[in-house]
Formats: sequence, structure tokens, C-alpha cells
Amino acid sequence: MPIKEIGLVSFRNHDTINLEFCPKINVIWGKNGSGKTAILEAIHSLSIGRSFRTNRKKELLKDDKEFLSITGKFQTADKIQEIQINQTKDGTRRTFIDGKKLESIRELVGLNPVVLLSPEEQVITKGAPQDQRNYFNKLFSVVSNEYFTILSDYNRILKQRNKLLDDFNLTNKAGAELDIWNERISEIGQKLWKKREYYFKNFSLELNKTVKDFKDDKFTFSCELVTKIADNEKEYTEILNKRHNRDIYLGRTTYGPHTDKINFTFNEKNIKQYGSQGEHKLALLLIKLAEVRLIRKVTKNAPIVLLDDLFAKLDNYRSKQAMAMIDNDLQTIITTTDLKIVEDRGVEIDKFNNGSFYLG
Ligand SMILES: Nc1ncnc2c1ncn2[C@@H]1O[C@H](COP(=O)(O)OP(=O)(O)O)[C@@H](O)[C@H]1O
Ligand SMILES: [Mg+2]
Repeated sequence: MPIKEIGLVSFRNHDTINLEFCPKINVIWGKNGSGKTAILEAIHSLSIGRSFRTNRKKELLKDDKEFLSITGKFQTADKIQEIQINQTKDGTRRTFIDGKKLESIRELVGLNPVVLLSPEEQVITKGAPQDQRNYFNKLFSVVSNEYFTILSDYNRILKQRNKLLDDFNLTNKAGAELDIWNERISEIGQKLWKKREYYFKNFSLELNKTVKDFKDDKFTFSCELVTKIADNEKEYTEILNKRHNRDIYLGRTTYGPHTDKINFTFNEKNIKQYGSQGEHKLALLLIKLAEVRLIRKVTKNAPIVLLDDLFAKLDNYRSKQAMAMIDNDLQTIITTTDLKIVEDRGVEIDKFNNGSFYLG
């Protein structure tokens, strides 16, 4: 859902700031360090409950202030929805929707999806398997509350099983207790795998379409989920049983969806090993455009597109292609140090009707 307004208090370098966005293209411009990315970070937090730059919540609070708040107003089909995050100095957080405190972040995730294109996201093509899993887990949680619930349950049970394995060694066997956890984790792990397979297939289709739409370019780009998915729960448990000694020896679970890998292939080669800088940037752009499509397709809602310094990172030709592929009806928030670059690349900024903010 489009964001109409954001208000920040003591967030990063901002004392207090209020911005009113238009439903189309918005540009936030200003010098390095003026707090442009911080605003995208705040919008991202309102969307999924956390920053994309840090896991340390305390970093977000301005200098020696006592508390911070982020307030956003989103335009839903029939009303304005207010989301507020309050955080104190010790990192304690409370989140409210229309004044009602959330019991779980689950209630927030998926309400107002954002698609973020920023240098931090480059780990999707360059990073470790964990980074790729995190990306898809996050995306699938945004499009499916059920996925989010299953994933949370799986992670909880995995942690408990790993704790048990870590507490035992080969002479002091975990025995019957482990059998119980094996059954539990097989059940939830199998569910997670099925859901992941389903959404991944959909993502992959959207990615193929996105690549096809890059008409002028000759390249191939695709993604693949590399997994050892069991046929059913029974087989899953059998595999765990076979790995009993290995798991106890290593003190962790060596089989399950948390070991999945995702490969991106650019012109027949694994991009992580062989991709050039330019290919990585193009790959990320394609992934993000596919993400927009997946969110639209599954949720029937349009995400907010956040482009952090995109034009400094992509050449003129790619930037134009990128903008051409972002539908006109998507709300887009762009940050830049140079308004002229953005205009030169064919972005029409509505300077008179909100849409353009100078941070100094
Ligand atoms: N907790 C904080 N308190 C005060 N200043 C901060 C805090 N966190 C970051 N900053 C500062 O905020 C500024 C804004 O950073 P950023 O949002 O990355 O700006 P931009 O994207 O415009 O370059 C940086 O100069 C950074 O040092
Ligand atoms: Mg920045």
C-alpha cells in the first residue's frame, strides 16, 4: 500500500522530520550523510519490523536521545492506516497499528510490502548461502503469512534440536528424546520445503519473464533451488535417523530446509564465482523486478519500490531500462545526491505536488 506520510523522531541523524509522499515517483535528494538512506530504512522498518542496514536496534537511536519513533500513514483501499514503532534507549520496541499494540511482528509483515534496491542487497548474488536463504525467506514471508508461521516454527524446533545435539556426545546418547524431535522437525520441515518449493517456482517464473522483457540485451539469467527435499515425512525421519551419529558428532542438524542453496546462473555460469561487477548489478536489478512481480501476483497488492542511490550504481542505459520496467502505478521512492542525474535518466519528478525532498 502506498505510504502517504512518514514522521521520524530521533531516528539516525534526524531530530524530527515529516515527509508527505505522492503515490508515484518521489525523490529524496541531498548530500552524503544527510539521512536519505535513513528514511528508506525507516520505511523498511514500518514494512517488516526491521532495518536493512543493521540488526542492532540501538544504532538507530539518535546520539544520546531517550527514545525514537517512526510513524507512517499508509493508504489502504478504504482508509488511512497508521503504523508506529516506538523504541527506548535500551532497545525495547513496541509497534502499533492504528493505536493497537502488536502481539507479534507477524501481524505487520505483509501489510505494506516494500521492494528495496540498495547496495546492501547485493549479498543476494554475492553473499553466502545463508544470505540467499534469508532473502527468499523474507520475501516468501511477505507474500504468505502461512510461510512466515511455518518458518518461525521450523526455526524454533531446529534450535531446540540443535541444543539437544550440542548437549550430547557419542557415548552419552540423546536417545529417545531425539526421536521425538526428529518427528517434530520432519513434520514442520517437510511443510516448509513444500511451501518454499511452491513460492520459489513462482519466483523463478517471474524472473524468466523479467529477463525476457529486457529485449535489447542478449544474456541468460535464471535461478535454481538446490535442495535434497524428502519425498515425505517418513523418508525425512529416516534420513535424520541415518545421520544420527553425524549430527551428534557435529552438534547440529545437517539435514533440512536450513541447508538449501540457491544458485543464480548468468550466461551459463554461476554468478557468485564468475560474475563481473556489472553482471552482479544487473542480476540484482532483475531479481528485484521479479520480486515486484511476485508480490503483485501473489498478494494482489503493489509494493512500494525503494531505490537507494540506484543511478550512481547503474549506467545510463540500465537505469533507463530499470525505470521503464517499474510500472507507472507503483509508488517509488528514489534517493540521490544529484537530482540532475535522476532527471537525465528520464525520471519525471513532480516538483510541485510533493514528490521531491531536499535534505540539505
Ligand atoms: N544513531 C545515530 N545518531 C546520529 N547520527 C547517526 C546515527 N546513525 C547514523 N548517523 C549518521 O546519519 C547520517 C545519515 O546517514 P545516511 O542515512 O546513510 O545518509 P545518506 O544516505 O544521505 O548518505 C550519517 O552521517 C551517519 O553518520
Ligand atoms: Mg545513502
